[in-house]
Amino acid sequence: MADIIIVGSLNADLVVRSPRFPQPGETISGEDLQIIPGGKGANQAVAAARQGVKTAMLGRVGSDSFGPFLVENLKANQVDTSHVIVDSSATGTAIIVVDSNGQNSIVLSPGANGNVSPADVDSASFSNSKLLLLQLEIPTPTVLHAAQQARANGLTVILNPAPAKSLPRELISVVDILIPNESELSLLTGLPVNDIGSAEHAAKEILKQGVKTVIVTLGSKGALLVTAHQTTQIDTYKVNVVDTTAAGDAFIGGFASAMLNGKSLEDSVRYGCACGALATTKFGAQPSLPTKEEVEKIIK
Ligand code: RIB
Repeated sequence: MADIIIVGSLNADLVVRSPRFPQPGETISGEDLQIIPGGKGANQAVAAARQGVKTAMLGRVGSDSFGPFLVENLKANQVDTSHVIVDSSATGTAIIVVDSNGQNSIVLSPGANGNVSPADVDSASFSNSKLLLLQLEIPTPTVLHAAQQARANGLTVILNPAPAKSLPRELISVVDILIPNESELSLLTGLPVNDIGSAEHAAKEILKQGVKTVIVTLGSKGALLVTAHQTTQIDTYKVNVVDTTAAGDAFIGGFASAMLNGKSLEDSVRYGCACGALATTKFGAQPSLPTKEEVEKIIK
């Protein structure tokens, strides 16, 4: 079995590059439509696999043409897809506009991701794996069940609470490492998060709920690592931004692979920052995720 299991979403990203985002009620012209493999779960699986880690994906696609397109891309990246179920609904899609600054705006249509169930989780064995990666593009009861199963089998549970939503305390209490961005952390805690001090304060509130480590991703400002014993801001690398889509996923896959390879928490965050920065230099979700060689080069 794989060292890292990802229970999460697979999306076909329908992406248009546009000079700017349209206003409500406005129509503007963009470039040609591109269909790109995405979904936070699948992106994190590919991000970790490209660092040479044995990775398995558990999720669902529909019975349309997007399903095989997504599964084949995972296989091409050496991700084990034996727990990706094909059901009779539509494959999840994300409608994405990327503006001239590389920022994005995303609307999700969950499709088959909305059917990933606790029974799907039970069809896989966690006993020989080390780490579970979770996000919130599948139903929350399934995320909770997967986290509980992983805990029971001694895996480290990492939750990326994206897209932002409030979560049951039960779930937070079985998470080892929580990786939100600033707005997700604010929604989870009900506290304003707009600078390093407020991020540290909110992260400490989460620690009180049983999480051991909170890593707040801060975009071009890097990341803030908060545990009971330390608060450390880690800078990221300066790059030319083309498209920020999946930068957070690249960070998480890279961070998880570094942890698995025995790096310290701080060095793993630094490694994740390198992966996230590199992902912003290329267009699209999975095509932008860096290889191990690219990451080692920027770190040097
Ligand atoms: O994190 C980026 C991802 O969010 C995209 O690939 C899109 O599918 C949405 O899930």
